[in-house]
Amino acid sequence: MKSLMITKYGDISSSLEQQEVTRPIIEANQILIKTYSSSFNPYDYKVVKGDFKAMGKISFPIGIGRDVSGIVEEVGKSVKKFKVGDKVYSRPNESFVGTMAEYVVTNDEDTALMPSNLNFDESASIPLVGLTSYQALVDIAKLSKGESILIHAGSGGIGTFAIQLAKHLGAKVTTTTSTKNISFVKSLGADKVIDYTSQNYLDEGAVFDVVYDTLGSNYTLDSFKVLKSGGRVVSIAGTIDSITAEQFGLNKFIRMILSFQARKVTKAAAKMNAMYRFLFMSPNGDQLEKLAKLYESGTIKPLIDKVFNFDESIQALEYLAKGRAKGKVIVKIREDI
Ligand SMILES: NC(=O)c1ccc[n+]([C@@H]2O[C@H](COP(=O)([O-])OP(=O)(O)OC[C@H]3O[C@@H](n4cnc5c(N)ncnc54)[C@H](OP(=O)(O)O)[C@@H]3O)[C@@H](O)[C@H]2O)c1
Repeated sequence: MKSLMITKYGDISSSLEQQEVTRPIIEANQILIKTYSSSFNPYDYKVVKGDFKAMGKISFPIGIGRDVSGIVEEVGKSVKKFKVGDKVYSRPNESFVGTMAEYVVTNDEDTALMPSNLNFDESASIPLVGLTSYQALVDIAKLSKGESILIHAGSGGIGTFAIQLAKHLGAKVTTTTSTKNISFVKSLGADKVIDYTSQNYLDEGAVFDVVYDTLGSNYTLDSFKVLKSGGRVVSIAGTIDSITAEQFGLNKFIRMILSFQARKVTKAAAKMNAMYRFLFMSPNGDQLEKLAKLYESGTIKPLIDKVFNFDESIQALEYLAKGRAKGKVIVKIREDI
């Protein structure tokens, strides 16, 4: 089967190649998906560029991509939830990296039936960003009705989903974006939009119960300048906290470095009696089932910026890496049936 492979660390254009690889064989609790669509996430180009070298050694070539939608081709002996022919979507476990491929293996517990009202492209736009924001806003921040939240980068893959989820949870949503995307993020339900090209979100003052830090660097520490005392900051792009470092089983030396890097954030959180958590999302089929219901009821809509063909997948990743995507970047692996 054809699979897009990372051949080395480096530039996107010179480090990716479509290769012929062996079709995977499934185990008892796994399913084989005949892929129709996949989507890219910033994580994919960050891996290519070597940003996660400290997390462990990669042996190349290795697949790329973490979102898949398609049709069940084979089921393992102990799989009860799915049958051949089901339309499913998944964010597979780290051990099966590589959804930019004609067939993808995933655990049954990391998979759900696709939302019945969505096509393959729309369904492939959901798993990674949907699970990330669900875990950030529901599981960690426990965002509740009437609370106010600041969501950075409302027009991106994460932001477009997070705005809609936060509104569904009953929160008052403020988001940041550039001038060209103001009406776009308003159409998703944002109550207040801050145009970062002409306004400074720090002028809002300490008014937010929750800050969803999707930008990292100075935005992480600055989150505490707009947070109410006792509030919560959940970051998916900033400083890794001790809970996540432990979750990854990072060695003592790396944990010491991370804890040193996190010292200002830890201090700011303690001073304000606030919570700071870094989230690295995890696969979860039950949560994908819950998300499917939100799409089926029309509560959340899929937002796709651009669809590329499989043969254009390198251009698709280059497009995403420009950092200006408005919603998700999809790669159509096969034509829809
Ligand atoms: N930890 C995890 O588990 C996890 C999971 C998923 C994602 N992430 C991380 O979350 C981040 C966001 O992911 P994504 O999928 O949303 O990326 P994305 O789709 O590439 O984000 C692009 C969007 O960011 C906006 N943007 C860029 N700079 C901005 C700024 N300074 N202020 C406001 N908006 C800005 C752009 O809007 P304009 O064109 O208007 O600037 C664009 O619409 C990435 O760093 C990703 O790696 C982490």
